[in-house]
Amino acid sequence: MKFVLVFVGCFLATSYGDDPYIINDKYFPDSFLFGTATASYQVEGAWNEDGKGENIWDRLTHTRPELIADRGNGDIACDSYHKYKEDIALLKGLGRFANQVNDAGVAYYKNLIKELKDNGIEPMVTIFHWDTPQPIHEAGGFTSEFVVDYFGDYARLVYRLFGDDVKYWLTFNEPKQICHEGYGDAQKAPAIVSPGIGEYLCTHNVLKAHARAYHIYDEEFRATQKGQVSIVIDTPWYEPNSFSIADAEAAERKRQFVFGWYANPIFNGDYPEIMKARIAMRSELEGFSSSRLPKFTKDEIAYIKGTYDYLGLNSYSSYLVAAVPEPTIGNPSWEDDTGAPEFQDPSWEGAASHWVKLTPWGMRKLLRWIKATYNDPAIIITENGYSDNGTYGDDSIRQRYYQTFLSNIRDAMEFDKVNVFGYTVWSLLDNMEWMMGYTEKFGLHHVDFNSPNRTRTEKPSAQYYRKVVNTHCLVD
Ligand code: NOJ
Repeated sequence: MKFVLVFVGCFLATSYGDDPYIINDKYFPDSFLFGTATASYQVEGAWNEDGKGENIWDRLTHTRPELIADRGNGDIACDSYHKYKEDIALLKGLGRFANQVNDAGVAYYKNLIKELKDNGIEPMVTIFHWDTPQPIHEAGGFTSEFVVDYFGDYARLVYRLFGDDVKYWLTFNEPKQICHEGYGDAQKAPAIVSPGIGEYLCTHNVLKAHARAYHIYDEEFRATQKGQVSIVIDTPWYEPNSFSIADAEAAERKRQFVFGWYANPIFNGDYPEIMKARIAMRSELEGFSSSRLPKFTKDEIAYIKGTYDYLGLNSYSSYLVAAVPEPTIGNPSWEDDTGAPEFQDPSWEGAASHWVKLTPWGMRKLLRWIKATYNDPAIIITENGYSDNGTYGDDSIRQRYYQTFLSNIRDAMEFDKVNVFGYTVWSLLDNMEWMMGYTEKFGLHHVDFNSPNRTRTEKPSAQYYRKVVNTHCLVD
């Protein structure tokens, strides 16, 4: 007699409703990585302890508090510098990496990584998540090419110190936000307003710095440490506002200006053609003698192309894009360089953050587009999440957010053959949401920022995510 073990998959776990974005009874592969994400400035606190230097967020929040929604800062934040063991316990129940090496900082990260591994959790480390040391910024920061050498040296140090225990590296988190928001529209530190100039210079140097860090790993560490290196690029999905060709072209232009700006040099070589052509055209109309978009040399293109082992993707939402009239001589600057304004449908269900909408269908379309446009990379969704304003109640919308986004990710894997190997929720804890201070909360765990102890309390969605991680199924 032969016994056949029938694998029931997720049928028993998932109920069927009317919502086409929830229904998904497919099992996530055993090898699929589930996780949660945090970032140094947003959770650690201890801003001036143990020899830590000042960074651009310390300076901004201390000198221009009026720019932060609730005048909050990251001085204490979640106090994770002292409470990391408690945080890892939460994580189980379900990076502060200057030209002087700070022994206390190194010890903190060694302990953090050890604690993660001792608890069976795989660390995925981002080398830079926006907290430029203030002295580096004052020397020119990301608009100066010296940061390429500086970042390379820093990455080498980090690989040497922690590389035996870290197999997944990410050089930069969300370079578009570093450059567009830091040096374009001043929505993030260092809050410099230089749209169409500073942001392009910044990007040029970030891309070179990323490539330097990648090659250093490749040449000096890969053989012994056997890890993988990439970058996190963020983008919403941009859907054409109508079936018109003009709207379709505008949406694609937007994708290229937002995601291709970084992805195209890394995956295909050089900035997207549409960016090069459009910025050159606009620069001429504006009277510049050359394009505002810097140019890579042939050698630089070859050096940057291919500097990825996988792709880290942050995505939370979707936008609609409609075509607008082209600029004319004498009236070149009525819009930004994309010429493709974005907006959202007021009927889309939202979150505390105005830009986060429950548009899970956009995730599948985005994954499909990335596969087709960037040569089918292995992808880990490094951030995806929903914000509340502190009154999360039964937290059911956040659960539905995860369930529907994961459902579309699973469909992209099954039907579109997109190679997605993992997913990490933003975020483990409520934390310092940059310019929004503590008014927008993405955590699976509520943090009481009024208690000296920064008490953590599980939200119902943490229980939900635990079930998903344990079963690899989109349970109700
Ligand atoms: C992107 C950033 O990486 C993270 O720092 C931020 O808090 C979340 N998204 C939510 O806005």
